[in-house]
Amino acid sequence: MEKLDLTTPNFTDENIQKLSELFPNCVTESSEGKVIDFDALKQELSDNIVEGNKERYQLTWPGKAESLVTANTPINKTLRPVREESKDFDNTENLYIEGDNLEVLKLLQETYLGKIKMIYIDPPYNTGKDFVYKDNFTQDKAEYDAESGNVDEEGGRLVSNPDSNGRYHSDWLSMMYPRLKLARNLLKDDGVIFVSIDDNEVHNLRKVCDEIFGESNFIGSFMWEKHKAPKNDNKYVTTNHEHILVFGKNKERAILNKLPRSKSNIDSFKNIDNDPRGVWISGPLLAPTFNANSIFEIKRPNGGIATPPAGKCWSFTKDRIRELISDNRIWFGSDGNNAPRIKRFLSELPDGIGVTSVLLHDETAGTQKASNHLKKLFDGRKIFTYPKPVEIIKRFLQVGADSDSVVLDFFSGSSTTAHAVMQLNAEDGGNRKFIMAQIPEATDEKSEAYKANYKTIAEIGKERIRRAGEKIKEDNAAKDGIDDLDVGFRVLKVDSSNMKEVYFSPDNTQQSNLLDLASNIKEGRTDEDLLFMVLLDWGIDLSVKIERREVAGKTVYFADDDYLAACFEDNLDEEFVKALVAQNPLKVVFRDNGFANDSVKINVEQIFKQADIEVKVI
Ligand SMILES: C[S@@+](CC[C@H](N)C(=O)[O-])C[C@H]1O[C@@H](n2cnc3c(N)ncnc32)[C@H](O)[C@@H]1O
Repeated sequence: MEKLDLTTPNFTDENIQKLSELFPNCVTESSEGKVIDFDALKQELSDNIVEGNKERYQLTWPGKAESLVTANTPINKTLRPVREESKDFDNTENLYIEGDNLEVLKLLQETYLGKIKMIYIDPPYNTGKDFVYKDNFTQDKAEYDAESGNVDEEGGRLVSNPDSNGRYHSDWLSMMYPRLKLARNLLKDDGVIFVSIDDNEVHNLRKVCDEIFGESNFIGSFMWEKHKAPKNDNKYVTTNHEHILVFGKNKERAILNKLPRSKSNIDSFKNIDNDPRGVWISGPLLAPTFNANSIFEIKRPNGGIATPPAGKCWSFTKDRIRELISDNRIWFGSDGNNAPRIKRFLSELPDGIGVTSVLLHDETAGTQKASNHLKKLFDGRKIFTYPKPVEIIKRFLQVGADSDSVVLDFFSGSSTTAHAVMQLNAEDGGNRKFIMAQIPEATDEKSEAYKANYKTIAEIGKERIRRAGEKIKEDNAAKDGIDDLDVGFRVLKVDSSNMKEVYFSPDNTQQSNLLDLASNIKEGRTDEDLLFMVLLDWGIDLSVKIERREVAGKTVYFADDDYLAACFEDNLDEEFVKALVAQNPLKVVFRDNGFANDSVKINVEQIFKQADIEVKVI
């Protein structure tokens, strides 16, 4: 029976596959297996190549090649569900994933490839004080012990990146490059990514995104007024803005939604003359481009004459203006004495308005308001510094996501994005779902968060969602359908594989270890751990409904109704298998050594083949 692969995609292999589809003649074999004959590829591309020291326009930094390898290298880790830390585990469609986002993004490649409509990230800005994750950090034990930094169990470290570091920008780029590359794969064809950043790295972020998403997929950039009354404490420019860059996977397909009109916008429409068409606002009657044929006199109702100012002309022809006047669409002021203006009726305008690139403090809130909001939610304790305002992310959701989209934030911090998703769903009845990823970065022992028992930022993020969800339900209690609002989340944690090493390299296993390997599953791993590993490998949505049923005395997990049936019990026999087939699953998975004996295993394979059910083992 075929075994599940349980390894994330190898993008180098996938690239070779893509090239071999375009240039089959450039694929050959070497002692390492299938390889590309680069000389042959060069011939195919004739003169249109640049190599060696020849000048070209490009972004490069020391470590770039290594960070590309980092992005492409597969891992065989897994995601383990944690029911106790989740909320409404069985019914929610939201996910909270704890772990280094590089690994999270790799693990999500099969399941969420091309499925995410919107990503928002707020990565470390490289201010000289924040931590940058050092991927694949390898050093010997002595060196390792000498370091006092944050170290995870794999030896990866969160290292501070002071601007005195000679590789200051390079380290940050090496951290961002593989993550953005993997994130792009997850976007739908019409998907968009919003990235917050400040002046420290905005130039590099723009360039690295140009490279990863393609310059032609740059959609725009926002400037957010983060302080209304900034401290006047800078020797040069007092900075009170941040940037948000927006790229699409495919700009042609990525349409930004219009925003609903704000109350102040609607209030600016009036009906001074009791027009039966309702409220209106007046606009200039002058054309943006000059046309000598559109200069003529217009008679005002009070008898005076209006002409366009010097160098300007009217926006319409004489006949058209006559029609507009007789239809009461030209406004000459209350006493009929002003310059003519055109009336624009709210009822005749498109429903929404396009988003503008300057995000004003009053409309999107600022840093201070965001901090106060979070502090209030945590009973007056300041548990996180510089969260983003819910309002600003809500605005990005309004323009970048549909009402039922999956939204990903893989630098999620205090989970503002999850909060904004739930808030907007409560306001407009949408069914957006979120995936938060956050490394369990330790909180400072002196911090209020630590004292309040939040030992990691991930603890803060999860608690924020719990509290915000309840508060949103409470605030909207009178709304129809509020009971159905999904304020739950499934917690999944990145961990080493559930399988012992033998699973991945059976040839290397020595004879003496064979007894120990009677089970290829690590101690302490539960059926649900195995189930989620299978979901990941088979590319099945991690938020699907999971049901436990007894089938012929054995426990079977059904995921997504009858799409997948998984049974990890021992002594499976033909009677059980026939009972399982009667439940009509599309795919089934067992443990390789879960069958009563070898002949059952062979018969079982036949039974599933006849029933046209895909079967695999772990
Ligand atoms: C600027 S904060 C995000 C704040 C968030 N937007 C909010 O409103 O709360 C960046 C977050 O990314 C997290 N982070 C940094 N490196 C990470 C990594 N490799 N994987 C996952 N999270 C990471 C940090 O712990 C931090 O919480």
